[in-house]
Amino acid sequence: MTEKLLKIEDLRTYFSTEEGVVRAVDGISFDLEPGERRGVVGESGSGKSVTAMSIMRLIEPPAGEIVTGTIEFKGENLLELGEDEMQAIRGGKIAMIFQDPMTALNPVYTIGDQLVETIMLHQHVSKKDARGIAIKALEDVQIPNAPARLEDYPHQFSGGMRQRVMIAMGLSCNPDLLIADEPTTALDVTTQAQIMDLMLKLAEDRGTAVLLITHDLGVVAGFCDTIQVMYAGGIVEEGSVEDIFHNPQHPYTWGLLGSMTRLDGKHRARLHSIAGAPPSVIDLPVGCRFRPRCEFAIDICGRVLPAIRPIGEGDQSVACHRAEELDLKTLDVDVDHTKEVAS
Ligand SMILES: Nc1ncnc2c1ncn2[C@@H]1O[C@H](COP(=O)(O)OP(=O)(O)OP(=O)(O)O)[C@@H](O)[C@H]1O
Ligand SMILES: [Mg+2]
Repeated sequence: MTEKLLKIEDLRTYFSTEEGVVRAVDGISFDLEPGERRGVVGESGSGKSVTAMSIMRLIEPPAGEIVTGTIEFKGENLLELGEDEMQAIRGGKIAMIFQDPMTALNPVYTIGDQLVETIMLHQHVSKKDARGIAIKALEDVQIPNAPARLEDYPHQFSGGMRQRVMIAMGLSCNPDLLIADEPTTALDVTTQAQIMDLMLKLAEDRGTAVLLITHDLGVVAGFCDTIQVMYAGGIVEEGSVEDIFHNPQHPYTWGLLGSMTRLDGKHRARLHSIAGAPPSVIDLPVGCRFRPRCEFAIDICGRVLPAIRPIGEGDQSVACHRAEELDLKTLDVDVDHTKEVAS
């Protein structure tokens, strides 16, 4: 067995607000193998970004706090590191790409300055060498005329080119893990596809593990090996993309996948909406958090929060009391079902 790259156990990240305690991430556990590409899906507010920010230790105190859990990265609990040590990991061994590159790039410095600074900080090389690495990094993401473009400011790049710069910056230090939070959502479909292809090639060539947060199941099908489905701060199902897409075990996953008709990535499908809304993570229902929207709920679902547990032969896990008795796969997961549930 290979050593896990990332091992998260019982992570809980809460925010204190005037309305009450927001249990944004509420007891999640998952692992990443070296080089694994894992998709994180789930409706808005399910805790995807907070999971990413927790791994990067970017949760802002005092309102935000990781109240319990461990985040082991290469055998070391990130939650026990000092800020200096964490700084060295951030952008070095673990890089993050955000949805909007303008928030991550500083508008008053050239792309070259920002790239060279990151590289010098993490790789301890001379300015001249860092510049060479920066040019190579821009060439790797297929930015034409890289040496000249180092002198340009972020606003002189198109949205797609800026996202390429972010990928270049993220990968310039050869991280073991890249966290990408909706990296292509702001881009048009064609540019989106080009960037995902590029990221796939770079991650594969370098063996970089990726945690990809996305709403786009087509992107997950084309890019990821595994997937975790989040609901109201918890993971309700996880497994290989193959298993989850062909054999969903949780009614929520089943609902989400309703609009997927093809798995080859050519048919672009967004997560469709399921009737009703997720619960407030301030005032979570007793029992299963999906119960108020679940057409299969029975008595126990309203009383006991189901723990996530392995199911079937492979590496699939599910948090549903009824998973064994419901054979969701044989219920038609098709567009008709989607319309029915969504209406
Ligand atoms: N700084 C904060 N203060 C208070 N609540 C927060 C804060 N950051 C996030 N939350 C809350 O935590 C919950 C999870 O948020 P998160 O950003 O992780 O959702 P998400 O799954 O990334 O959603 P989206 O798909 O919209 O990006 C939400 O209820 C959100 O309002
Ligand atoms: Mg988010």
